[in-house]
Amino acid sequence: MRVLVVGSGGREHALAWALAHSPHVTDLLIAPGNAGTAELGENVPVPANDIAGLTALARERRVELVVVGPEEPLARGLADQLRAAGIPTLGPDAAGARIESSKAWAKEVMAAAGVPTARAQRFTRLADALAALADWPTPVVVKASGLAAGKGVIVAGSRAEAEQALRWMLEAGGLGEAGREVLLEEYLEGREVSCFALTDGESVVPLLPACDYKRVGDNDTGPNTGGMGAYSPVPWLDASQQQVVLERIMRPTLAELAQRGIRYRGILYAGLMMTADGPKVLEFNCRLGDPEAQAVLPLLASDAAALFAAAALGELAHQPLPQWHDGAAVTVVLASGGYPGPSETGKPISGLADLPEGVLAFHAGTRRDPDGTLRTAGGRVLALTARGRTIAEARALAYAAVARVQFPGMHYRRDIAARELR
Ligand code: AMP
Ligand code: GLY
Repeated sequence: MRVLVVGSGGREHALAWALAHSPHVTDLLIAPGNAGTAELGENVPVPANDIAGLTALARERRVELVVVGPEEPLARGLADQLRAAGIPTLGPDAAGARIESSKAWAKEVMAAAGVPTARAQRFTRLADALAALADWPTPVVVKASGLAAGKGVIVAGSRAEAEQALRWMLEAGGLGEAGREVLLEEYLEGREVSCFALTDGESVVPLLPACDYKRVGDNDTGPNTGGMGAYSPVPWLDASQQQVVLERIMRPTLAELAQRGIRYRGILYAGLMMTADGPKVLEFNCRLGDPEAQAVLPLLASDAAALFAAAALGELAHQPLPQWHDGAAVTVVLASGGYPGPSETGKPISGLADLPEGVLAFHAGTRRDPDGTLRTAGGRVLALTARGRTIAEARALAYAAVARVQFPGMHYRRDIAARELR
């Protein structure tokens, strides 16, 4: 099978890594990829948002399965174009990707489906939002409805702070188009977890859940990032709770989409808060998480290409359920100086050649010089994943690996999965 992975981050390196292990995969293309994916297949320099370019590439190279990593090309209709060209694709059409690209619409879908989520009100006019704010208890959450690359959520401790956030989005246009519609949302308390379902629009198969770390600093301090680390599975989300997530959240949401004529083929990611009243949805995404994918995919014992192709082709019902390795995986992200603000790049990376046995280094922002020197090329540079019999074992190995790697300005969180230690 000729497979194309779209994207250039750590998640896409993990997808390429899982696919490269499949005996079904004869050719692996990654567009545009990074220095890590170049070791597994052929990087093709077509940007992830070049819908026409990617469709032409898939046609020319007679690709038989496209796996789309990021949300933006999906929201822009990449899967629509690929499927119109007859190319099986893992990733929803733009209509399905709207579950992520419009948080306001996602709320509407959840309300219609009876899916538990934080109470919310939507606004496009500042005056209306400010008037309504007076009736909201604090903390209150201010959310941009559109795609804001992780910058669209502000948990406001006071009404003054919420007002500032509303003015920033609705008045100053601080998030551009993404913040022209905003939600005021009930603040939920509990433990956060990322749950994933693989679906062909009919059959729904849960993948392992994971926890990620959004704040840049230890103990959840500092600004939000794309994600600084992850672990999987989640010891406190037992099988019966996972079943509740499947039956009360994933299935009804997909059924509601189907009702609206949207056949969702891809991965549905539910960002959940486990509250005293059960799981509630914080957000839906139309793809795997990054860095959750770097923890979940290394635990997959089944053939990733067979599973993904079955979902893309509408044949998931005929596919055996995914099998998972025992134990756990812990992923630590190594970031550039300045990240999540403007970050330094071009720094030489050393130490990857002598990682402890079994540790996986997933590249994100990296590039290789013609002389072979590996350099930083983005905010999140690498995700190091270790597997172990327990979270404690995986965590110890992951941090032993972190200690071997260096680049100027490198920073990382020291507390990934620490809360799971006794
Ligand atoms: P999101 O992009 O919607 O996942 O939001 C980013 C982060 O903001 C989440 O991971 C949560 O930590 C936090 N958050 C979002 N919505 C809420 C909410 N309703 N209550 C509490 N925290 C929230
Ligand atoms: N790690 C969070 C996300 O991928 O959205």
